[in-house]
Amino acid sequence: MKIIVTKDKITGAAKAFEIFSREIKAGAKVLGLATGSSPIELYQNMTNSDLNFSNLTSINLDEYVGLDPHNNQSYHYFMNKHLFKDKPFRHSYLPNGLATDTVAEVKHYDQIIKENPIDIQLLGIGRNGHIAFNEPGTSFDSTTHEVELTQSTIEANARFFDNIDDVPKSAICMGIASIMSAKKIVLLAYGEKKRWAIKHMIEGPITEEMPASILQKHPDVTIICDEAAAQDL
Ligand code: GLP
Repeated sequence: MKIIVTKDKITGAAKAFEIFSREIKAGAKVLGLATGSSPIELYQNMTNSDLNFSNLTSINLDEYVGLDPHNNQSYHYFMNKHLFKDKPFRHSYLPNGLATDTVAEVKHYDQIIKENPIDIQLLGIGRNGHIAFNEPGTSFDSTTHEVELTQSTIEANARFFDNIDDVPKSAICMGIASIMSAKKIVLLAYGEKKRWAIKHMIEGPITEEMPASILQKHPDVTIICDEAAAQDL
């Protein structure tokens, strides 16, 4: 694992932007994208750049079950607002949170990932070490699946909703094996609430109880975190 500690998230985003630009210029065609607050400044850098995504494909990690793409808390809405409206891709895929047949949707999403192997995958990390919505206890062999969100994730994500009761209880998300199949991974983490997750991801045992710890086994991972998140390393 390569670990880059930056002063703050602005410098972190600039580093991440450098990596993405380099990979795109070197021929990366499929970007795995993430939501949450951590990637926002990176998306701003992309939006303000001269990079052209019109020949690229994006595949997002996850979507809440039950939210319409136009709902302003959905990840479809988030991606459109922060990136796609200014920088459209040739194809942009997110799981369909309104699918009535979840089993078919999950299979369909795995097929999309198989047909479009991810060149570079962006990740955030949950305070409990989740990646995408792969909560502690998720099998390292998992592919796309529907997950019940833990109470701690519901509470952490409630800040984006008017009311905690509005936070969906489940999501469709790429599995850990799908994430690990990306050729290159860049993970962003900022703020002292990520201290525990950063320390255990990097220094802890590799265990399904700490989903992000599997990244220790990936051959090309860069962790970009600020000093607040890195203070226990
Ligand atoms: C959610 C998302 C994750 C994200 C995490 C951390 O649970 N599903 O993909 O990494 O939040 O979010 P933030 O970057 O806002 O701390």
